[in-house]
Amino acid sequence: MSSPPLVPPLKCQGIKTKLVSAIQKVADTREFSRWIEPFCGSGVVALNVQPKKALLCDTNLHIISLYQDIQSGKITAAIVKEFLTNEGEKLKAQGEPYFYEVRTRFNEAPTPLDFLFLNRSCFNGVIRFNRKGKFNVPYCHKPERFAQSYVTKITNQVRQIAQVLSTVDWTFEVRDFRETLAQAKAGDFVYADPPYAGRHVDYFNSWSDADEAALGTALGSLPCDFLLSTWHSNEFRKNTAIELVWSRADFYMLKREHFYHVGASEDLRHPMIEALISNFPMAETTPLLRPIEQPMLFALEPLTSAPPQMRSPAA
Ligand SMILES: C[S@@+](CC[C@H](N)C(=O)[O-])C[C@H]1O[C@@H](n2cnc3c(N)ncnc32)[C@H](O)[C@@H]1O
Repeated sequence: MSSPPLVPPLKCQGIKTKLVSAIQKVADTREFSRWIEPFCGSGVVALNVQPKKALLCDTNLHIISLYQDIQSGKITAAIVKEFLTNEGEKLKAQGEPYFYEVRTRFNEAPTPLDFLFLNRSCFNGVIRFNRKGKFNVPYCHKPERFAQSYVTKITNQVRQIAQVLSTVDWTFEVRDFRETLAQAKAGDFVYADPPYAGRHVDYFNSWSDADEAALGTALGSLPCDFLLSTWHSNEFRKNTAIELVWSRADFYMLKREHFYHVGASEDLRHPMIEALISNFPMAETTPLLRPIEQPMLFALEPLTSAPPQMRSPAA
């Protein structure tokens, strides 16, 4: 993994930038020929783990379209630079009305570049769509949002990602997790990061107890390894799915405290205990059924001296 973590051009709720190294450490203890993410979101995990072969899926077609276009070369760093510079000048001159003009334009005829513009100039840098599938995040009230340094930062992120994509065999697809997981075969490794039930609920993130149960069943019957990240508890409540769905005798769990910087205000103010759940023993694993008495930090150091994972496709 590159250090510091490679940052994708898109921001989203629940982005796992700060969990990447923990996920990487667990994945490094396993051998696999293909990395599968049924909920790839910003793509930050795969972009840092950098498996040779991957299937990256999400129901949010706007995310997938952006990455497909970067992968195909339809969108380049130079195109992003020119686009954000021009649109940024209009935002600077016209302010808030211009943000809403682009938002309306995007909602009538979505393009990946408008999606990127909105994601990087909306309030809190979140991705949220209403029930009709229309992007509805308000303006961040920074008319000078696309200053040259900010455009350069985003342009460099796109360039880095294009560079990674040119060296790997990855497929991006718009898919429901059920379809994605039905494709998993022995030798794959699934990293699942579903929306958190009852937390960030919108068009692409509506997530019910039935979805969580279906995910538990699908992951529990995979022919390969999986690693799931979910929330365990915060100071106010516990994730009931930990007991209802994830407390199986053949599952394992690690917990750690995590502070969110993108998303709802509750996330901003209060640390969350995150859980990593797998169908293989992880180093320093906490047995699932033991009551959790206090917040614990991930105890992934030192790891066992397992051989490094095979990142290239099995011969
Ligand atoms: C917590 S986010 C993933 C964040 C990602 N790991 C990251 O670090 O950026 C959950 C993602 O699941 C996607 N999603 C929601 N429901 C889905 C479903 N039924 N099937 C596939 N993806 C879904 C959302 O669009 C969202 O991008």
